[in-house]
Amino acid sequence: MIYFDNAATSWPKPEAVYLAMDSLMRNTGASPGRSGHLMSLTAARIIHETREALCELFNISDPSHVVFTSNATEALNLAIKGLLRPGDHAVTSSMEHNSVMRPLRALEKNGVDITVVKCASDGSLDPHDIEKAIRSNTKLIVLTHASNVVGTMLPVSEVGRIARGCSIPLVIDAAQSAGCYPIDVETMNIDLLAFSGHKSLFGPQGTGGLYIRQGIESRLEPLKYGGTGSYSEHEDQPNFLPDKYESGTPNTVGLAGLGAGVRFVMQEGLTNIKKKEQRLTKLLLDGLASIPGVTCYGNGDPARRVAIVSFNISGMLPSEVALQLEEDFRIMCRPGLQCSPAAHKTLGTFPQGTVRLSPGHFNSSHDVERTLEAVKQIARRAR
Ligand SMILES: Cc1ncc(COP(=O)(O)O)c(C=O)c1O
Repeated sequence: MIYFDNAATSWPKPEAVYLAMDSLMRNTGASPGRSGHLMSLTAARIIHETREALCELFNISDPSHVVFTSNATEALNLAIKGLLRPGDHAVTSSMEHNSVMRPLRALEKNGVDITVVKCASDGSLDPHDIEKAIRSNTKLIVLTHASNVVGTMLPVSEVGRIARGCSIPLVIDAAQSAGCYPIDVETMNIDLLAFSGHKSLFGPQGTGGLYIRQGIESRLEPLKYGGTGSYSEHEDQPNFLPDKYESGTPNTVGLAGLGAGVRFVMQEGLTNIKKKEQRLTKLLLDGLASIPGVTCYGNGDPARRVAIVSFNISGMLPSEVALQLEEDFRIMCRPGLQCSPAAHKTLGTFPQGTVRLSPGHFNSSHDVERTLEAVKQIARRAR
């Protein structure tokens, strides 16, 4: 079996992730920050260590400014719905996932204006187009770091400079880049960074988070209110981070796994992870380009994309290709629109979508070669 669906969620996980979660459940399964006993304190320490590891990875100075959520979607909802008010204007790109588009479209019905800046047909974005879209009431720019359809990187640093120059908060959707591409919230001028814990950071499903730059919290409304274990004498939500945004018993077992995943990324080295994924991406792109009847999308330079490759076979639906890949060759991939209709309209692949192959750190060049052979056979049958 070949798992090429790492852009949805990574699998397998590093051994240390399984061990950390097993140990947490067996030995430290108490509620963190709620009680003063040893098990509760140990659980709180494990969560804090996960915050610290993420700070090291993203160059964040204060761990309390990393807020945990159940996935990138919740983090994006917190950032977008927490900052925008009726009468505000927000700018985004035409390569966004529905986890950005849907909260924006929901706010549009309540009086928020949205500009969707058109990207080129390879998914790339000219940062000046973002600059041109800014108005006097622009209160947010939200952008994906890497497309989940074709892996194309958007110019986050350039847009970061523009946003900072205009004092507009910049939200980055790092669901596809966190853990496989360098992110420095300081040098890239990122104000809010939403990430999945369960993709390239190797945590389990149900983990994610949002970095919130110092000062933004005074304008950012929580998504949820409730018990935090702190200031229990008050009925009002605490005003300090992370408690302001972390009500309810957290996913301690998941966050133990996420901590182990982030430490694995740092031990392996982000540069090495990126290099390996780029090598597999190049092999896939070159191989697919040589198969008659196959069309690949996105830019052809593996250095400017994460390990996500989208293609179609002429005369076949993406779902038919995916079915044959699984049934005849035991290759797992993701066909269709991948929750990103806007991106597919940009690429010219709407409404049928594409077949998406997303190799991960645990795949090998042998997996790529077997997949290329499978695509070759399916394309030959289709002719
Ligand atoms: C670009 C992008 N943004 C957001 C999300 C949502 O991530 P999550 O599943 O962690 O909510 C995904 C997931 O595929 C994604 O690819």
